[in-house]
Amino acid sequence: MTTRPTIFVLNGPNLNLLGMREPEIYGTDTLDDIAGRLEDQAQALGLSIDFRQSNHEGHLIDWLQEAQAAGAKAVLLNAAGLTHTSVAIHDAIKAIHVPVIEVHLSDPHKREEFRHISYVGMAAKECFAGHGAKSYELALDAAARY
Ligand code: DQA
Repeated sequence: MTTRPTIFVLNGPNLNLLGMREPEIYGTDTLDDIAGRLEDQAQALGLSIDFRQSNHEGHLIDWLQEAQAAGAKAVLLNAAGLTHTSVAIHDAIKAIHVPVIEVHLSDPHKREEFRHISYVGMAAKECFAGHGAKSYELALDAAARY
């Protein structure tokens, strides 16, 4: 049996509340809805995904390191609010060789000024933002091409 290349999909703080969290900004899909669709898409692309969410910065850092140790093909990372604050996540992305793609449901550049800086974006390979839940699907298609 051949193992499929794995894409880690890491989600940060408050994304567990998707569906009921500011739906006018983030839409009505839950994180489970997004994970389900990505599973199907990954299957069709010959990939497998490892989909996770945490409200804790250290978990995201541990998981980025784990992606490297596990030989993941790529990481899709929606670091949520930590995108705009975390030098430690920036450093973790730089510390691994696995390509990281930044993902956001909304487009932070069209929102408050404090969202315009992205410590993730300064280290990530590319970014898909502003397409709602579809940002994840576009990012997975991009990861499949690596
Ligand atoms: C977000 C955008 C961030 O600015 C915000 O803090 C989030 C969600 C998005 O997916 O649009 O929590 O990452």
